[in-house]
Amino acid sequence: MTAEQTTAVLEAEGLTKHFPVRGAGREVLRRGAAVHAVDDVALSLHRGRVTALVGESGSGKSTVARLLAQLQPRTAGAVRLHGREVTVRGGRKFRAYCRQVQLIFQDPFASLNPVHTVRYHLTRALRVHGHAGRNARDLEDALADLLGRVRLTPAEQYLAKYPHELSGGQRQRVAIARALAAEPEVLLADEPVSMLDVSIRLGVLNLLRDLKEQFSLAVLYITHDIASARYFADDTMVMYAGRMVEGGDSETVTQSPAHPYTRLLIASAPDPERIASAVGTAELAEDDLGEPPSLVTPPEGCRFNPRCPHVMERCRTDVPPRFEVNERQWAACWLYDGSESGTATPTTPASEAGDA
Ligand SMILES: Nc1ncnc2c1ncn2[C@@H]1O[C@H](COP(=O)(O)OP(=O)(O)OP(=O)(O)O)[C@@H](O)[C@H]1O
Ligand SMILES: [Mg+2]
Repeated sequence: MTAEQTTAVLEAEGLTKHFPVRGAGREVLRRGAAVHAVDDVALSLHRGRVTALVGESGSGKSTVARLLAQLQPRTAGAVRLHGREVTVRGGRKFRAYCRQVQLIFQDPFASLNPVHTVRYHLTRALRVHGHAGRNARDLEDALADLLGRVRLTPAEQYLAKYPHELSGGQRQRVAIARALAAEPEVLLADEPVSMLDVSIRLGVLNLLRDLKEQFSLAVLYITHDIASARYFADDTMVMYAGRMVEGGDSETVTQSPAHPYTRLLIASAPDPERIASAVGTAELAEDDLGEPPSLVTPPEGCRFNPRCPHVMERCRTDVPPRFEVNERQWAACWLYDGSESGTATPTTPASEAGDA
């Protein structure tokens, strides 16, 4: 990493979101019951780097993205852009924040309005963010520039089109262009290619990678496909049942996963070559995948403990802090507690350790 890349653009600490449970369900055991969607998550995004957030369905990935984009108020924790926290929703500082931090959704069809053309979507975004220029000529240049950035050229061929006249990949490129109209520093991409045909996924990921380099964007790439994280992301973080369980550089996390959950995730991925190279021993088979836990009454201690083949007594009672596995990787797992006394010695400062 260069010096510029080491300073975080966007940071979250102690990020927590509990959704109140309404209505009478089997799990509503007490008043004030809540879905513990995200608990005590710490992460930082850096200029010119892609950070993947990987986890199975319901693990809280989209909630993290919505909290970072400030689309939803958080239950607890802090989010800082360039070290400054935005505490009040609404107002000038909040609008500036929303410009800097743009979210791209999984389904471009849902995020684009079917009754409006590409020209309308992009013009509106440029105007809202004050980048439409002073006259019609400036606007045309800005539109052509935006479409050029997402490789939809010549621009005239696309400007008059409606979302249904575009392919899925083209629609996602328009959604990306609209996000770029804000001239953001951070792109939060929530499963940006999972709705696209396999054959065009790579093109969109490569485009995001080029944009990251060209504009030094900090990118959060949310996916349930850990293989794509390895291909596309510089760093990878793994989430399980609302908590971060492992993180580090993508190569290390995907080739030598440390947390038993990450190993399980890789072992259950469909590529046999990857299973062999990443897991080594076939201690975890797909049959072990099991069910994720209830988030209304999540397991005490480590949330993975009911499914973990290495479970120890303390895993059932104590939430593991982050332990450094090596200089490129950490895991929130008691297996990596280096202290012989059994007392935790987290290797990251308590404020940074996701579960401390
Ligand atoms: N508005 C809401 N109200 C209540 N519960 C919610 C709300 N939004 C999300 N949840 C719950 O929070 C948990 C995390 O959901 P989230 O959408 O963040 O998961 P995800 O990792 O993005 O899953 P997927 O891979 O399916 O997109 C889930 O149990 C979900 O049902
Ligand atoms: Mg999601």
